Amino acid sequence: MIVCHCQNISDTEIDAAIDWMRASDPQALITPGKIYRALGKAADCGGCMPLFLDTMRKNGNLEIPMQLRSLRGGATKEPEPCKATPKSLNTSTILSVTS
Ligand code: FES
Repeated sequence: MIVCHCQNISDTEIDAAIDWMRASDPQALITPGKIYRALGKAADCGGCMPLFLDTMRKNGNLEIPMQLRSLRGGATKEPEPCKATPKSLNTSTILSVTS
């Protein structure tokens, strides 16, 4: 079945690209853009993206590697305050601000 009509990409080609990427790098995050590049093509109109993503999700090799799964949780944490002193401030500026 043709998934992307602009670039004439089938579901079989998407599966093959995902399987190839997973086999060559078990920790790779596989995205539609990487699949296009692996096939030597680039998205044009983007109208196929919902079907493209559905096709990707059906492939068992698409799973996010275990060691990368906690990144989303880490990204939502409050960032720690920066402890570095700005280089552009000199001590007289700091003293005038605090007094
Ligand atoms: S249908 Fe896939 S980019 Fe247009």
